Amino acid sequence: MNKINIAIDGPAGAGKSTVARTAASQLQYVYIDTGAMYRALTWNAIHHNVDIQDEAEISMLLKKTDIELLPSLEGNRVFVDGEEVTSAIRSNDVTAAVSDVSAHEEVRRQMVKKQQELAQDGGAVLDGRDIGTAVLPDAELKVFLSASVEERAKRRHLENVGKGISSDLQMMMKDIQVRDGKDTERDISPLVQAGDAVHVDTTDLTAEEAAAEICVLARERIHQT
Ligand code: DC
Repeated sequence: MNKINIAIDGPAGAGKSTVARTAASQLQYVYIDTGAMYRALTWNAIHHNVDIQDEAEISMLLKKTDIELLPSLEGNRVFVDGEEVTSAIRSNDVTAAVSDVSAHEEVRRQMVKKQQELAQDGGAVLDGRDIGTAVLPDAELKVFLSASVEERAKRRHLENVGKGISSDLQMMMKDIQVRDGKDTERDISPLVQAGDAVHVDTTDLTAEEAAAEICVLARERIHQT
């Protein structure tokens, strides 16, 4: 059976990681959380007191940073230079700084290259903001996941509460709007739906329903290749 690559893009809280992970597990594909890679670099920058706005320093740090993603039932476990940072990269500090880190052109260039290498054998589901447009422009299946701002804020809020991270729903809405703005308005690879992506609105769908839709589309594409 041919193995295809699946690109899943969309704004924060649209359900990308759960949906991508579930679809990957059903298809027995590898799941790659590209946002976790930007978060890992951001964590390392904060850890080493590197100025988030300094593109040269941040990209030099990325060259020296070993970021490893390991599969697990809950998603990717993330390691920076051998240290597990799976929970640490979800902290409010990292979340507040990651959009600025990911806006640096040289950072994106290096990250895109790493992500292309991870997907080079096919059979991968990547989620992020620029997968269908920049990382895997030839992916056999591209999906753009969206959901209303209210629903996305509610999901992130409940996720934080579940993890014991302090959270406020109104703040979360503002935070999501600010991050949407930064991600869609940045100069380099802004978040935009690829022309050939299938749009799936998850506002009224469970993650399982959205993943099932993606698996149907994937199986169609697999049979076409
Ligand atoms: O999906 P996430 O919230 O974990 O992503 C964290 C940040 O990384 C988000 O603000 C946008 C950025 N990102 C990106 O620019 N490109 C990607 N492929 C993935 C994430």
